[in-house]
Amino acid sequence: MTDFSRNEIIEILKDDSKNEWLFSLADKIRKEYKGDEVHLRGLIEFSNICKCRCKYCGLRSENKNIQRYRITDITESAKNAVRLGYKTIVLQSGEDGFYTKEIMCEIIKELKKLDIALTLSIGERSFEDLKAFRESGADRYLIRIETTDRKLYEKMHPRMDFDNRMRCLKDLKKLGYEVGTGCLVGLPEQSIDSLADDIMFFKEINADMVGIGPFIAHPQTPLKDEPNGNFTLALKVMALTRILLKDINIPATTAMETLNPNGRIIALQSGANVVMPNVTPLEYRKKYEIYPNKICLNEEPEHCRKCIENKINSIGRTVSKNYGFRKN
Ligand code: SAM
Ligand code: SF4
Ligand code: FES
Repeated sequence: MTDFSRNEIIEILKDDSKNEWLFSLADKIRKEYKGDEVHLRGLIEFSNICKCRCKYCGLRSENKNIQRYRITDITESAKNAVRLGYKTIVLQSGEDGFYTKEIMCEIIKELKKLDIALTLSIGERSFEDLKAFRESGADRYLIRIETTDRKLYEKMHPRMDFDNRMRCLKDLKKLGYEVGTGCLVGLPEQSIDSLADDIMFFKEINADMVGIGPFIAHPQTPLKDEPNGNFTLALKVMALTRILLKDINIPATTAMETLNPNGRIIALQSGANVVMPNVTPLEYRKKYEIYPNKICLNEEPEHCRKCIENKINSIGRTVSKNYGFRKN
């Protein structure tokens, strides 16, 4: 009953008349498998330097209109997040060659002294690098496949290799990471069938975390004139992911809130059980502009921590005090 075939997924994605049923089914499954606790992950955007040219992203190397930065004192930001009660830190960046295997391992070891679970989101790396990061203490790794449609992937990612992204996901599983992936919803020429394939793919690789984000057009990219992704469609992809992968961690993504002022709360009531508030120091936040109108650009980490807890409490849910692994 609650395990849909590819054809059923396509039908559901195309038909908006049963959305309320879909969202409440996903919410029910979330409650049954994950309970009412919401896990907060403190996000540190530690470098916006990137060698890639992803057509949708404001950090792409060809965008000469942003000021690039690297945060030298990542540990200070992490300690602040720990003071605010975060049990997971997510280190995110562009694909920045400055962070060699050795440098990353040092950062990981330093942060792991803080009694936190550590997630990396730093792009594609070799097996050897991923192995060294794991051995240094990294617990989880996020790398969205973005789209499983190979042709579309190649169009969106000049000079990148679909097979290498897949290879990373497989290596991460082999190395015992909790593996996060996900997709963008609303890329130009993306079909409903391919979104169904994305959902089937999350199931096939047994992803531990899946982040679904609507595409948001950035003015300094080749996709500047394309329409934004659709909030409801992104929510449906997320809800279907919950229904198929019942016990995984699913964030209410920041991109959803950018398109809808109540987006994260709506997502938490449609299958999500995680939120990733930004703990990057304010001076850098505006410079990590992957898409325009990102939320919380002027709010201190302290403010966001309270804000999100109030919102979570307002829907009868609570902030978890544990690390929030898939299987506790
Ligand atoms: N560089 C790493 C990577 O690409 O895996 C991590 C950082 S990257 C900024 C994180 C995510 O941002 C990407 O996986 C992508 O899905 C999302 N993103 C980038 N540009 C976006 C846009 N214009 N709209 C929505 N999401 C976007
Ligand atoms: Fe770089 Fe990631 Fe943006 Fe692609 S999505 S340009 S890899 S930061
Ligand atoms: Fe940042 Fe609400 S979470 S202001």
